[in-house]
Amino acid sequence: MGSAFAGKTALVTGSGRGIGRALAVGLAAEGADVVLVARSREELEGTAALVSTKATVISADLRELSAVAAVAAEAGPVDILINNAAVPWPAGPTATLDPAEFAAAVALNVTAVAALTIHLLPGMLERRWGRIVNLSSGAAQMPAFLNGGNAYTTTKVAVEGHTVNLAAELDGTGVTANIYRPGTVATSMMTWVREGGGTAMDPTVQAYFADVQQQGQLLTPEQSAGFLLARLGGEETGQTWHAEDGIVARLDSERG
Ligand SMILES: NC(=O)c1ccc[n+]([C@@H]2O[C@H](COP(=O)([O-])OP(=O)(O)OC[C@H]3O[C@@H](n4cnc5c(N)ncnc54)[C@H](OP(=O)(O)O)[C@@H]3O)[C@@H](O)[C@H]2O)c1
Repeated sequence: MGSAFAGKTALVTGSGRGIGRALAVGLAAEGADVVLVARSREELEGTAALVSTKATVISADLRELSAVAAVAAEAGPVDILINNAAVPWPAGPTATLDPAEFAAAVALNVTAVAALTIHLLPGMLERRWGRIVNLSSGAAQMPAFLNGGNAYTTTKVAVEGHTVNLAAELDGTGVTANIYRPGTVATSMMTWVREGGGTAMDPTVQAYFADVQQQGQLLTPEQSAGFLLARLGGEETGQTWHAEDGIVARLDSERG
């Protein structure tokens, strides 16, 4: 147990499972109190049970702006904001998508990210210290790769633009904003992409992720969280941090 974030409060969205849970547990292991946000209260309680610092559980659907405002009010002062919650759907040929589902993905993956930041930033600026990290994806680095994942790719590219612009605005304030691409990680989202509704994506995408799994190349959520937590305390801002999983390098070499 370290103390890198002792005395700080970290809010992690989507912390009921997967990468968000590992990030919350890792932040608490470094002394931070944690605010855990997702829809499933049961999963959040499961995360809280793994944490020995103060853990506040808030069940909320972040697609609703009123819910985002309520989360910020209940959380109180937050020093570290990790915008991790996202969905990979809707998937499939763009001509077949439901515009309302596309809008729902934008509401969670982009608008909630900005809205939580808007609510929590004034306190960070007042205290002259804050850390904002927005989870992105290799899909933003290679926007053509996730063929059949137009909504997801759109949202992650948007999140990256939002983050870099914000970092420039905040330069010198003590509040940093960075992007984290977590690698290819064994979570329920990855299972969905490989086996579930993600089968609506191009077969090459399916085959690719199935192969990554068979070759044992998936990171654990804890491994991925570790790469982010190692960088979080520093002063870097406006950066794109990557997990090291070799996947992007493999894709680059396969594409010549
Ligand atoms: N896994 C990967 O390989 C991978 C690769 C690249 C990028 N990422 C990114 O990493 C982040 C975490 O992904 P993951 O794989 O850990 O996902 P995950 O296992 O599917 O977990 C997603 C979390 O988000 C929450 N969430 C979903 N909809 C929500 C809503 N409407 N309101 C509030 N919370 C909501 C979920 O809880 P509830 O359903 O209970 O709300 C859950 O706690 C995402 O931003 C993802 O895009 C993941």
